[in-house]
Amino acid sequence: MIKAAVLATALLAAQIAGAQAPAPASEPQKNYDPAKADEGKRVYTQNCARCHGLNMRVASTAFFDLRKLRADEKPRFLNSVRNGVRAMPAWGDNLKPDEYELIWSYIITTNLKAGAGG
Ligand code: HEC
Repeated sequence: MIKAAVLATALLAAQIAGAQAPAPASEPQKNYDPAKADEGKRVYTQNCARCHGLNMRVASTAFFDLRKLRADEKPRFLNSVRNGVRAMPAWGDNLKPDEYELIWSYIITTNLKAGAGG
């Protein structure tokens, strides 16, 4: 409980800081948590991999390649996944707020490690 509150506060602070002072290009805005990437991968694999591919290696151009997402595109990510885009289903309350954060952390940590997405 306390941990969650601290984390929520930290996330909020990071978002506020990010909104007021954009991070320099070499230091992407920290709106994700690399420590959550493994758990995020599990949530991703359960919910998203059947369309977006195992390890985000998408098999068809019909599905958006999540490896293209950049660290500053969290609002786009949240909006698209919550509300859906064309053939992309809306996830709404089918994912918990936590699970959105986990998946986002997985995607961005993976993309930054690959040298892209920053
Ligand atoms: C039933 C197949 C399917 C599943 C399951 C699915 N997606 Fe998608 N997704 C799509 C398709 C198709 C698109 C491309 C939509 C378009 O632009 O026409 C897409 C696009 C996206 C986009 C980019 C939207 C944009 O802003 O352009 C994101 C982000 C995304 N999906 C995330 C996810 C996440 C996260 C999950 C798991 C929670 C998920 N998707 C599960 C089919 C799926």
